[in-house]
Amino acid sequence: MAGSTSALTGDRFVRVAIRQMVSHDVATADHVMRVSFGTFLGATDPATTFGEAQFVRTRFAAEPSWAFVAEHEGEVVGSVFATRWGSFGFFGPLTVRPDLWDRGIARQLLEPVVALFDEWPVRLAGLFTFAQSAKHVALYQRFDFWPQYLTAIMAKDVSRVASREFELFSDLGEVHRALVLSECAELTDEIFQGLNVGHDVHATHAQDIGDTVLVRDGSTLVGFAVCHLAGGETGANKLYVKFGAVRPGGHAPEHFTLLLEACEQLARERGAGAVVAGVNTGRHDAYRRMLESGYRTGGQGVRMHRPNVGGMCGAHDFIIDDLR
Ligand SMILES: CC(C)(COP(=O)(O)OP(=O)(O)OC[C@H]1O[C@@H](n2cnc3c(N)ncnc32)[C@H](O)[C@@H]1OP(=O)(O)O)[C@@H](O)C(=O)NCCC(=O)NCCS
Repeated sequence: MAGSTSALTGDRFVRVAIRQMVSHDVATADHVMRVSFGTFLGATDPATTFGEAQFVRTRFAAEPSWAFVAEHEGEVVGSVFATRWGSFGFFGPLTVRPDLWDRGIARQLLEPVVALFDEWPVRLAGLFTFAQSAKHVALYQRFDFWPQYLTAIMAKDVSRVASREFELFSDLGEVHRALVLSECAELTDEIFQGLNVGHDVHATHAQDIGDTVLVRDGSTLVGFAVCHLAGGETGANKLYVKFGAVRPGGHAPEHFTLLLEACEQLARERGAGAVVAGVNTGRHDAYRRMLESGYRTGGQGVRMHRPNVGGMCGAHDFIIDDLR
């Protein structure tokens, strides 16, 4: 495997035990995740980084067998989460306790993740990272992930919104939900063969941390967005679009605007004052439409792919995701 040899030698390398996360690990893994990002970002109180937003709890709850920890001297000192969206896989957040950085622990945590991507198998795997960090990019390149276009993390204040027609996944009955999951899979398959985010539609509903917006043209599903609200991967008073997609075709640009407006309306209905949505800038049409719709970039990072191809990030792919 690409990650099996290290430039780290002698005392610097720390061999850790890598194992699946269990519920008992969640609180420590969550603390390490906040402290490590907070330390990297220079926060004054790293332990409070990300505030109410949940990543460790939600991803562990969504699928425990895709979550891994690093254990050192009986303590959880790092963790990582893999996710499968059909033919596409991604991982994150990956974190290591700051006093143990540069000891080869992240590299050990990535080995079971990459093994999962090979085993599933996925056509493409990806991640989001800090574009300015040579360390981050080098770490992932070791596992054959290569930099693609920037991903813009955008936001829009939604104090005023146009009223839009849309359905919500949570309003549907059990049978109808199963049908909608297949419609969503069929829509994303048109953009990238085998792409299926049913895992996150289901996890968001099961954990009651948001909802999935469904936009139709007549009876045809033309767009949907998995939205996180309080309790999910978002801060207070913000709706976060974890994934959104619009059916390809001549009307995709207008449908994309309708999908954004539906997310904005849901935000207002649920008392959230802003929508946060990340888009890869390689998806030029979607990125430009978001700018034209009033979204502004609050931060940006780089998307990396394994193998080094641009799949699902083409100029006409109307997809919202940031893989954070
Ligand atoms: C990013 C993070 C997970 C890395 O963890 P880590 O245990 O320190 O990483 P490792 O020691 O396994 O690997 C770091 C690699 O980068 C290399 N590296 C470090 N600085 C580098 C630089 N400037 N240029 C190139 N390579 C560099 C190291 O040599 C090592 O590679 P090697 O194994 O081939 O020697 C950790 O720093 C962290 O938790 N950061 C805060 C949260 C975060 O940013 N998470 C990732 C978000 S995408």
